[in-house]
Order: sequence, then C-alpha cells, then structure tokens
Amino acid sequence: MTPWRPRLGILLSGRGSNFEAIAANVLAGKLACDIGFVFSNKPDAAGLSRARQLGLPCGALPSAGVERALFDSQVTQLLKDNGVDLVCLAGYMRLLSGGFVTQFPQRILNIHPSLLPAFPGLDAQYQALMHGVKVTGCTVHLVDENLDSGPILLQSAVPVLDGDTLETLSSRILKEEHKLYSEAIAWLAKGNFRIQGRRVLKT
Ligand code: GRF
Repeated sequence: MTPWRPRLGILLSGRGSNFEAIAANVLAGKLACDIGFVFSNKPDAAGLSRARQLGLPCGALPSAGVERALFDSQVTQLLKDNGVDLVCLAGYMRLLSGGFVTQFPQRILNIHPSLLPAFPGLDAQYQALMHGVKVTGCTVHLVDENLDSGPILLQSAVPVLDGDTLETLSSRILKEEHKLYSEAIAWLAKGNFRIQGRRVLKT
C-alpha cells in the first residue's frame, strides 16, 4: 500500500467533538488529509453546525423512517460525489449496511470509548464503571457490518480512578479519543500496515 492523502468523509449524529479534533489537526496542517464532506443523519447535530461555521462541505439527510439500504445508498452517493475515500464515523449512531461497507473496503474507521472487545455498544463508559474495571480506554477500528467489531487499528488505555463519576471518566477517555483518532488516520494514510485476519500489523 502506498501513501495517500485521504479525503475524509466524517459522519456524526451529535456533539461532534471528535470531528472538531480531526478538523483542527487538518486545518493546522498537522494531519495530511482533506475534509471532503461532513455528514449527519441528524440535521440539528451540533457537529454539523460547527462544520458549517468552519466553512467545510457538509450536509444532512434525516434517517428517520427511511429504509436502511436506501438511506445508506444515498449517503454513499453523497460521499462519492464529494470525492471521499476514507470514511470516519465520529459518534454516528447508526449501524452501516453491508452495501455501504462494500463501497469503502477497509476504508471506514470508527472510534469507540472502551478497549474493545470489552463494552461494545451504547454507554461504554458506564458499562466500564459498573463492571469495576481499573483500566478502560478507547479504540479506533475498521468497520464491518457488525457493531464495534472490525479489526483494531489503535487503542489507548485510560485508568479508572476510585473517585470517578461517569462524567470524569468519560471526559478523561474523550481527551484520549481526540488524540487517537488523528493518529490512526495518519497511520492508515502512510500505508505501512497489513491486515492479517483480525490483526492490523505494522510493515
Ligand atoms: C465518542 O465517545 C465516541 O467514542 C463514540 O461517540 C462519542 C462521540 O462524541 N463513538 P463526539 O460527538 O465526537 O463528541
């Protein structure tokens, strides 16, 4: 795999702090990528307003009531029309259809606020706190059709402290997320890795 300058499609449904962290690195020239499109399935997502303020190409299609395969084919078209070649899920609260995944083979990333495979799905920080683990963290992984399940690119560990509340733990993890996502994109762009089964190995 040779180095390439990815054209990112960032998909979000809410706050968008991971998108903002990536955008800040791209705009500061610290991450050799372009932002091709910021998409939301929630027209009123805060992350989308921020993309608009930053003057980035962006748009929304409400997903409520639309059949998944049809919706995903519309989103795929929008991303392709904007030249996107690396899709970054950043708090995108939808499972992708197989049709979507096959349109961007090994080119869809997600960030999850736990050390997968522990605590997949919703409320990962709460799950970690309730389970009583001493270490949790965040994971950037390639996306397949299943929830939080594709090959892992990078992980960062975060301690769980005795005095932690859901808020303090979530915010300590989020700080790591903001660093890890850009690192993972940069690594993928350099192309010095190979995928062996579930393992993403440096070459
Ligand atoms: C993050 O915790 C991310 O790991 C998870 O959804 C949250 C999105 O936060 N997938 P934000 O919208 O990027 O602030």
